[in-house]
Parts: sequence; structure tokens; C-alpha cells
Amino acid sequence: MGQPVASPGLSGGSVAVRGALLDYVGDPFYGPEAEAVRYVADGLLLVREGTIEAAGAYADLADRIGDRPLIDHRGTLITPGFIDTHIHYPQTGMIAAYGEQLLEWLNRYTFPTERKFADPDYARSVADLFLDELLQNGTTTALVFAAVFPTSVDAFFEAAEARHLRMISGKVMMDRNAPDYLCDMAKSSYEESKALIEKWHGRGRLLYAVTPRFAATSTETQLKLAAKLLDEFPDVYLHTHLSENVNEVAWIKELFPQYQGYLDVYDQTGLVRARSLFAHGVQLTDAEFQRLSEAKAAISFCPTSNLFLGSGLFRLEQAKNPEYPVKVGLGTDVGAGTSFSILQTTNEAYKVAQLRGQKLSAFKALFLATLGGARALCLEDKLGSFDPGKEADFVVLNPQATPLLALRNDAGIPQTLEVLEDLLFSLVIMGGDRAVAATYILGEQAYSSKV
Ligand code: GUN
Ligand code: ZN
Repeated sequence: MGQPVASPGLSGGSVAVRGALLDYVGDPFYGPEAEAVRYVADGLLLVREGTIEAAGAYADLADRIGDRPLIDHRGTLITPGFIDTHIHYPQTGMIAAYGEQLLEWLNRYTFPTERKFADPDYARSVADLFLDELLQNGTTTALVFAAVFPTSVDAFFEAAEARHLRMISGKVMMDRNAPDYLCDMAKSSYEESKALIEKWHGRGRLLYAVTPRFAATSTETQLKLAAKLLDEFPDVYLHTHLSENVNEVAWIKELFPQYQGYLDVYDQTGLVRARSLFAHGVQLTDAEFQRLSEAKAAISFCPTSNLFLGSGLFRLEQAKNPEYPVKVGLGTDVGAGTSFSILQTTNEAYKVAQLRGQKLSAFKALFLATLGGARALCLEDKLGSFDPGKEADFVVLNPQATPLLALRNDAGIPQTLEVLEDLLFSLVIMGGDRAVAATYILGEQAYSSKV
């Protein structure tokens, strides 16, 4: 371990891609959706060395193709790559673990599984499978929990680097309330995280997240040392869990009686910042949403996980309240989440909204999956839309991928936003992994459903 791989950094294709282009120029939760959406029914994406040079109508841009190969994806919908703002790679093999809610699920299934990631070879084999799974599902960037072992982070970043992916990850910090075999110590977690930041953060497309598991498995000393890392490395992330489950929230109050609530534990220890991302937030109070808004921190909404573990129904409309808006992305949260697919995640997000008497439109759902996720990760200057200069990670969706989808979408590629909204809704609900025809990383095809 520890050797640089042969060709770290960026690699990139120069291509021209023809198809229907759909991305965002604004947030459809605020203002008319039609003003936030950018749609070109016969579009052309021009990519130079992995960077978007132009996106627009084929008729306007065709004479700029030059010597680039022209890839004809007509009949498909091309969107920016999906962004998964919360997932655990060591939990890949324990997806669909039966019968428990959060705290019992952690003890019974999760901790024994994560122990296996002390073995670097095993960790690398799972990291490879995990990244293949993401690409098959159209996910091009993710914020990823590794395990407590620094070598589990090395294995993940090496696998991501080999695929030229923009990925964010970090070593789990936990120094109490977990089996000895998974616990570090406050000081060692600080030192190991620091060494990993120095090794990986900003290397090629890779970024580091300081990753205390959740307040229950960290001492106050450890949380404060996590904040010290954020002070010392201001552009790394903070990634943790927050207010997921009722029993968890009650336990945090017992463990930290001197604080006003769950978020206050993170706040008073210095962890609530603009580059902080909190998974779940199902049990947050209005005041806590407001505090996250003030701090410009982000939430990962993980509906498949919240339903699977019986955690509850996230109040998306509260997070998107225009008076104190909170940045929100979607997370699969595999292995508590039940699918790697962000389109399956939008499906369940829609149903969570329904159970709360709310509507999640197709355009809003796709925003959360793309530009919304990029904003939650403070990566909107690099990812999330087809603006020139951004990195050319995109996904090709086939609205007629199965006989059923072909029947549902028999009119083909829409010419108007109204018809597009209906077609997109079918993908938001039924698309899953099957609608993903191809995934491109830096302009190069990294997955095709045909091969
Ligand atoms: N809270 C603390 N650890 C975890 C985890 O691994 N998964 C989920 N869903 N919640 C957590
Ligand atoms: Zn999680």
C-alpha cells in the first residue's frame, strides 16, 4: 500500500455526443420550474479533453465538431451524471439485512461486516465492485464512508483513481460505543485522518471527508479533533449522520446531556460548516433546519434507507423552505439503502413526499440527483450541469429501455417541456438501473448496457 499508482490524475476524451440534453440553470424548488430547466431535444455536447466545451442545439454546434468522433445517442436523454451524497462502500455486501432498526442493525450486521475491511485485498475487491455498481447506475460522483481502517480508504481511492472518478471519502472515526475491533482513539483517528488528507485530498479528482460515524460513537474529544482537521484543511469535507432515528436521538441526549440537542453536539464541537454534509435529518426540528441553513451546511436525503430501517419520512419541503433554505442532495445510503440506483432513490423520494401529502415533481427530483447534489457537495463549479468548463461526466438514459418503458414512452423523445416532464416522471419512478444506457466519465464511456 501507499505507492502512487502509475497514472494518477485526469484523463479525458474529446468527443461530440448527439442526443436530447437535459440539465439545470437554477433550482426548480424556488421559482417556476420551466426557468430552472434547460432542454434541447436535438442537442450536441462538445467535449474537449474531458471538459465540456459547449452544449446546445445540434444545428448550432455541428460545425464545431472538428476531428472529434461523433457519438449518436439520438433517442436518448442525456443528463449530468448522478451524484450520490451518502453511501457506505464497506456495506455493499450486507445490503438487505433483515429485520432491525438503526441501532440494532448497526450492532447485528454493520459492525461485523466492516471488520472485514481491515484486509486491504478484500477492501480493494469490494471497492472495485462498488464502483462498477455506481457506474452501472449512472452515478459518477459519490460521498462515501470507508471503514475505520486507513487501508480501507487507500483501497477505495486507488480503485476510484484507476477509473478517473471524482469521489469523496474518508476514514470512519469512532472511539466508543462500538466493538473494540472497530474502535480507534481520538488522537490516533486525528493522526490517521491527517495522513490520509495529506496523501489523497486534491490528488487528481479525489477529495477527502473527515468522517466521524455519528455522535454516539465519538467522544467529545474526538469530535473536537475532527473540527481541528477542518480548521487545518479548510477545503476538506465533514461527513456524518444526523437525527435519523427516534431512539438514536434519545441516546444522543443521554450521551451529551450538556448540549441542547443532536445538531448542537456537532455545532458546539465545531463541525457545522459550509462543507459539512449530514446524512438523514429525518428527526430534525425546525430550529435545527434553520441552523443548518445559516451555516450553509447540507443534508443527504436517503429515502430507501429511511423506509428500509423504518427511520421516518424526511421533511423535504422544510429543508427547501425559502426562508431558510438548506442544500439537499440524494443519498442511497447503501447498505441501509436498498439500491445503488439514484433513479430508484427518486422513486422512493416521491413516495415519501406522497405519504406526507407533498408532491415531488420530476424536474425537482432530477435536480436533486444532479445539480442539487453538486451544490450540496460545493462542487457546482465542476459538476452537475452542462455549463462550459465543467467536467464531462454524464449519463445516457433510454426512455424505451424495456418493453414496458417503450410502451409507456412510445412517442419517443419529446419536443416540449410539458411532454418531457411526463417522460421524465416515468424514469424517476421506473427507470432504476435499466434506463441507464451508458455512463461517461470525462467524456469517455465508462459503462454501456450493450457490452
Ligand atoms: N448511523 C451511524 N452509522 C450508520 C450507518 O452505517 N448507516 C446508517 N444508515 N446510519 C448510521
Ligand atoms: Zn449512512
